[in-house]
Amino acid sequence: MKHTTAPFTLRCIESGVLYEPSEVRYRSDSGGLLEVVHNLEALDADTLRTLWDDRLKTLGGVNGSGVWRYRELIIPVEEKAAITMNEGSTSLYRSEQVSAFTTVERLTLKHEGQNPTGSFKDRGMVAGVTAARLLGQTSVACASTGNTSASLASYASAAGMRGLVFIPAGGIALGKLAQALAYGASVIQIDGNFDDAMRLVQEVCSERAVYLLNSINPFRIEGQKSIGFEILHELRWQVPDWIVVPGGNLGNSSAIFKGLAELLAIGVIDRMPRIAVCQAAGAAPLYAGYLERFAGPPRTVENPETLATAIKIGSPVSWPKCVKAIRESKGVVTSVTDQEIMRAKRAVDGAGIGAEPASCASVAGLKKLVDEGVIGRQDRVTCVLTGHVLKDTDAVLREHAPGGSIEGLPVCAPTLAGVQDAVERAIHGEDR
Ligand code: F0G
Repeated sequence: MKHTTAPFTLRCIESGVLYEPSEVRYRSDSGGLLEVVHNLEALDADTLRTLWDDRLKTLGGVNGSGVWRYRELIIPVEEKAAITMNEGSTSLYRSEQVSAFTTVERLTLKHEGQNPTGSFKDRGMVAGVTAARLLGQTSVACASTGNTSASLASYASAAGMRGLVFIPAGGIALGKLAQALAYGASVIQIDGNFDDAMRLVQEVCSERAVYLLNSINPFRIEGQKSIGFEILHELRWQVPDWIVVPGGNLGNSSAIFKGLAELLAIGVIDRMPRIAVCQAAGAAPLYAGYLERFAGPPRTVENPETLATAIKIGSPVSWPKCVKAIRESKGVVTSVTDQEIMRAKRAVDGAGIGAEPASCASVAGLKKLVDEGVIGRQDRVTCVLTGHVLKDTDAVLREHAPGGSIEGLPVCAPTLAGVQDAVERAIHGEDR
């Protein structure tokens, strides 16, 4: 591939067959998923730590990006060839309230809602769109439950490309649809669910000169790895016991594992954290597979249902990569009800942090795994909050406004007497 500074290749995760990265392909000839293979032997832990520390001092630009900072293990791209919107560099919070909710004291929360389009998807997308440009592509597409479409729309426009997003009609939060429209993507609504959209976008991209940017694209996974790099960097390479993530299409969990396995192989970290994937109970094929120790073929859920629409997925594309992540990190999978998700969201939102429902599946899952004794109260845990609270305002109103809509919120007369009662109740916390 042009404008790169080190060799890397693509490998089928099943057959091991190698392919040139300059070729546009998403699967091997035998149909297996592809992964990027870096030359890890050419990399040295001390050199990387120093280089990444130095770049951390940079404001803006390619070195200031929380993705390209780690580009030796993303796409080793020349600075001038990297697209960036200053993604990454998100906060790693500690919160007494969320610690109290989960009963885990040494808990950190990686708030990926602070990315440019408000979700963790920007990390994979910046790498995917940069790869698209290096491959000479002018049109890019994805299927999405909302966040990937917002991210693709933004990065495609920034890179001067045409963006096409396939979404389940009526199935994504309005804020995300608004983003895709505002950033200028063509929105193709499908009268079906996410899995239908995913199937169709793959067919379209195999027939037309449209580059597929779902996480089946191996470069998306490379960018996504940077969540793990940043968490570890900020923890000064002291490995937490657990990293807890929500699971939908399973790209994120796969990516975090791949990145950390590479850090371990190079010697930047000395052990692997355990990865916990949390699915919504009505959309939990991975959990079903986990219960039978992944003995059979990938499980699917025919009609997935959850109010955490971002993870309403019945047939996750990155299944085999995620199974590897769970097995090799001695990880676990759990499922949480919508009620548990919304209870966790109340804790996260009420702590002043805020996140969309799917993001809070990680906190809900943590609480459940602690209650079950799988995760210890003394363990060091990082939960990833994948998307911003503003992504899904309907979910907030359903929780906080009588009748679930803005009309249900009380309105006071514009006089001191008019607000007196409301103020009295607010001061005494009776309006909560
Ligand atoms: N959290 C949020 C907010 C998401 O948007 C997604 C996935 C996930 C968690 C799950 O991550 O798919 O890597 O397991 N959203 C995709 C989308 C599917 O189209 O925006 P995953």
